[in-house]
Amino acid sequence: MAKQILVTGGTGFIGSHTVVELQNNGYEVVIVDNLSNSKIEVLDQIEEITGKRPKFEEFDLTDKNKVKAFFNEYSNLDAIIHFAASKAVGESVEKPLMYYSNNLNSLMNIMECMSEFNVKNLVFSSSCTVYGQPDQLPVTEQTPRKEAESPYGNTKSICEDIIRDTVAANNELKGIALRYFNPIGAHATAKIGELPLGVPNNLIPFLTQTVAGIRPELSVFGDDYNTPDGSAIRDYIHVVDLAKAHVVAIERLLNDKNKANYEYFNVGTGNGVSVLEIIESFERATGEKVPHKIVDRRAGDIEQIYADTSFANEELGWTAQSTLDETLSSAWKWQTNIMETEK
Ligand code: UFG
Repeated sequence: MAKQILVTGGTGFIGSHTVVELQNNGYEVVIVDNLSNSKIEVLDQIEEITGKRPKFEEFDLTDKNKVKAFFNEYSNLDAIIHFAASKAVGESVEKPLMYYSNNLNSLMNIMECMSEFNVKNLVFSSSCTVYGQPDQLPVTEQTPRKEAESPYGNTKSICEDIIRDTVAANNELKGIALRYFNPIGAHATAKIGELPLGVPNNLIPFLTQTVAGIRPELSVFGDDYNTPDGSAIRDYIHVVDLAKAHVVAIERLLNDKNKANYEYFNVGTGNGVSVLEIIESFERATGEKVPHKIVDRRAGDIEQIYADTSFANEELGWTAQSTLDETLSSAWKWQTNIMETEK
């Protein structure tokens, strides 16, 4: 019988790509999402890509009664992938309580039900933000976590601790946290991708909207960092590669291949790429010009971070496959597709 996976936040950017990969690998998926930052039409797109419509329940995971009722109804879950969370760094500085309340309560409600309803396996969306500005690059899983730069980042660090402590207290439970670097790009079909609300904060949606003529110019935040070209460096990973890492993490848990009840992995490409290199690569890959100007640094940004992925490569047998040019082309194809649909 197909294994059943609960995917919270499954209509979101990374969630939807992961649902596609899970279904393509024979898993049965139930999505829970409150649609606060995604659209119900994503279900149609997932069905078009995979030929199968995932089950869907719309409610907020901070509502404990609803979470319990859900676990009562779905009594055969094999594992949970928990994506649902608030994720805007700037907003978290303005509304810290909303971030702590949403991100911590939803995880705690889920973990209480895991114990009560005997669901053993959890994969959690963490972030490289837990490393802050690391003293040494690339970062390995042994690199110490640092004081978070934002309430959002702090929720990721606290959620990791909640999982670590909960599985330590109940050795029936197992958890894997995946520390994502910068997820970008879109599915090759351009049927699903990132749908930012309003003016995008993140680099790639802002860049593609600029090239599409929706924004006049991309601002490059800082060219005076201590990096080869002066702009900040990140590790940009194709969202489909990231989605595949979740399938592998689920297989590790379901097949008891995990070496400890709680494990955490860096999920990146291992390549540090600057903002100016992104522009260059985008222009090369798509043949489009990116109008841009250099402005001051953005408050709260770190200078550089990129992953050492050897632990994930060796233990999970997973490696990011896409080149940066392919990844950026997929982001552009998605942007042009959204505009076609809106016409
Ligand atoms: N950048 C620009 N211009 C822009 C937007 C971004 O130059 O208009 C630069 C930033 O200064 C940074 C790089 O592009 O150097 C990437 O910025 P993003 O906003 O895309 O992503 P961050 O690296 O800031 O990461 C943040 C959070 C992560 C989170 C990630 C994805 O810190 O925790 O966004 O949401 F995972």
